[in-house]
Amino acid sequence: MTRETKIAPSILSADFSNLGREIKDVVKAGADWLHIDVMDGVFVPNITIGPCVVKAIRAATDIPFDVHLMIENPISHVEAFAKAGADIITFHAEACKVARQTIDKIKKLNKKVGMSIRPKTPASVIEPYLSDLDLVLVMTVEPGFAGQKFMLEVLPKIKELKERYSGDIEVDGGITEETAKKAIDAGANVLVAGTAVFGESDYRKAIEQLKK
Ligand code: DX5
Ligand code: ZN
Repeated sequence: MTRETKIAPSILSADFSNLGREIKDVVKAGADWLHIDVMDGVFVPNITIGPCVVKAIRAATDIPFDVHLMIENPISHVEAFAKAGADIITFHAEACKVARQTIDKIKKLNKKVGMSIRPKTPASVIEPYLSDLDLVLVMTVEPGFAGQKFMLEVLPKIKELKERYSGDIEVDGGITEETAKKAIDAGANVLVAGTAVFGESDYRKAIEQLKK
C-alpha cells in the first residue's frame, strides 16, 4: 500500500526577517508539517534557533511542528521544545548516550518521538528503538546546512528501514523533484524541503511538484 506523501518545508531556508509571513504562506500553499532545524554549533558546525523562536512562531499556524534537534545531549532540552510548541521531537542517535530515557521523556511530554541518523550511520543503530518510535528521520546530506546535494548512497538504507519499520520515514537534505521520487520509491513518506520550497517563488507549485 502506498502512503500519502507529506511535505515538511524547512524554515531554515525561509526569510528570517519575515518568518511569521513565510510560515503562513507555506501553510496556505499546502505544507503538511513545518520542519524546524535546531543546531547547536557542537553536534553540527552551524547554530540556528532555540525554543524562544519556536514559541514565537507557534501562533502562526496549527500544522504540526516537526522539530529536528541537531544538538548534543538532547535530553536536557526536549522539555523546553515541548513547552514551546513542538509536536514531533526528533533527536540524533549519534548525539545521545541515553536514547531510551530520551524517548521516554519525549513520550511523557505527550509528544511524538523520532530518531535520526546521519548518512553514514547504519540503520542497525536505531533498530533496538524502532518499536518505540513514531518517526525515523534519515539524513540524505551531512546535517548542518541547507542547499546540499542529496546522497544517493543513502537510498538502500531507506529501503532497509522500510522493510522493518511501519511508522513515518522522513528524509532530509537535498530534496528536489528528482530526488523526491527516488526517496518515495525507496520507502519515505515525509519529505523535508528547504531550498526546493522556500527557494521557489510559487510555494504551492513547489509543494505539489514534490508530491507527484
Ligand atoms: C540540514 C537540515 C535540513 C535542511 C534541508 O542539516 O536538517 O532540514 O535545512 O535543506 P535542503 O532541502 O535545502 O537540503
Ligand atoms: Zn532537518
